[in-house]
Amino acid sequence: MTTSHYLMLLATASLAIGIGCSAQREAQPQIDVEQEISYCRDKIMQSLSELADSDGVIDYSQAPRNICGTDTRWACRPACAEEWCGGFWPGILWYAYQATGDNEIAYQADKYTRALQVITEQPVLDHDLGFLFFCSYGNGYRLTGNPDYKRQLLAAADSLATLFNPAVGTLLAWPRHVADYGGHNTIMDTMINLELLFWAAKNGGDYRLYDMAVAHADTTMRYQFRPDYTSYHVAVYDPVTGKFLRCCTHQGYSDDSMWARGQAWAIYGYTMVYRETHEQRFLDFAEHVTDAYLERLPDDMVPYWDFNDPAIPNAPRDASAACVVASALLELKDYVDAPESDRYRDAAVEMLKSLCSDRYKAGSQNSAFLLHSTGHHPAGSEIDASIVYADYYFLEALERMERDQHHSTNLAKK
Ligand code: GLY
Repeated sequence: MTTSHYLMLLATASLAIGIGCSAQREAQPQIDVEQEISYCRDKIMQSLSELADSDGVIDYSQAPRNICGTDTRWACRPACAEEWCGGFWPGILWYAYQATGDNEIAYQADKYTRALQVITEQPVLDHDLGFLFFCSYGNGYRLTGNPDYKRQLLAAADSLATLFNPAVGTLLAWPRHVADYGGHNTIMDTMINLELLFWAAKNGGDYRLYDMAVAHADTTMRYQFRPDYTSYHVAVYDPVTGKFLRCCTHQGYSDDSMWARGQAWAIYGYTMVYRETHEQRFLDFAEHVTDAYLERLPDDMVPYWDFNDPAIPNAPRDASAACVVASALLELKDYVDAPESDRYRDAAVEMLKSLCSDRYKAGSQNSAFLLHSTGHHPAGSEIDASIVYADYYFLEALERMERDQHHSTNLAKK
């Protein structure tokens, strides 16, 4: 999509919603958010019954991960065995509990969450502790205040911090790939894991966790983006001197391409880092990486898995990236003034409208919320599939939108 096409689309969206104050716009959503959340809830109840055996017993050590091809039910993986996605399903359950107050869902969320505890009792495998613990224990603690969850979060943050290399100024993503990459490897996905460090520093953990998170965000900002603010997936550094060596890809089309979910992690990550630090440079950067993404989107606002795949328009989409970005924009819009705030909100609405259409919703095809995500294209894995993290960020985005609608309704009542 060209920039002018994109701006035209947003102008059309603004007209359809009703130009005026933000409260007016938010009072007239183009998505029936409550109906979409109810769709997610029904899907969750269906999945929970499918995950139970004939005696009604669920094996909580197995976490839903994907639904590929013509399968209709979640394929599960052991939540604790070298699996980065084990926190998303409990996170979905916590968001569903937040939306419904249903204690049965909270019970299931707690069971799936606690199944991850063993991870903090083992030596750290890689940087994914943030994804694993913040989506599960983090949401659980936010909603219940359970002190057990807090203990686990602090332990996970300490474990994650052992990957920080002060010479480089970032967390090592994959200890197991140091030899393959020829050094300390840092990946864009890790931006999300910084949230656990920020949280721990504010909640009784070591204050140095905050400094590590800020150093990671600054170093990544310096080395892992091109001048046009598109991201590289991987940066490699000398682990002893800290010298930057090179950038390359792991899950993208090529070293020089913009992998869609990588850019989505950058958008979400820098928005969150601004929230935690209030440092203007991070907000400016979040806007730059967002604009680089928005300017390149196809018409339906759901990216192809990599923006530079020469097979476009016949390349697979990545709905998960659209979910991550839609959710991030519903936060970023609160940190900027009009017209940018309206532009980011309208873009998020367009993304969610697309995701809520028959093209992307799984409906009766399978038990997930959404279709058409891409996990690891170069490895031939999870291509054009339903993937659990797409559903997690989809529900998060819907709940952020619902919160905004309630907020504007309350304002209107005053
Ligand atoms: N490695 C995380 C992702 O696939 O986005």
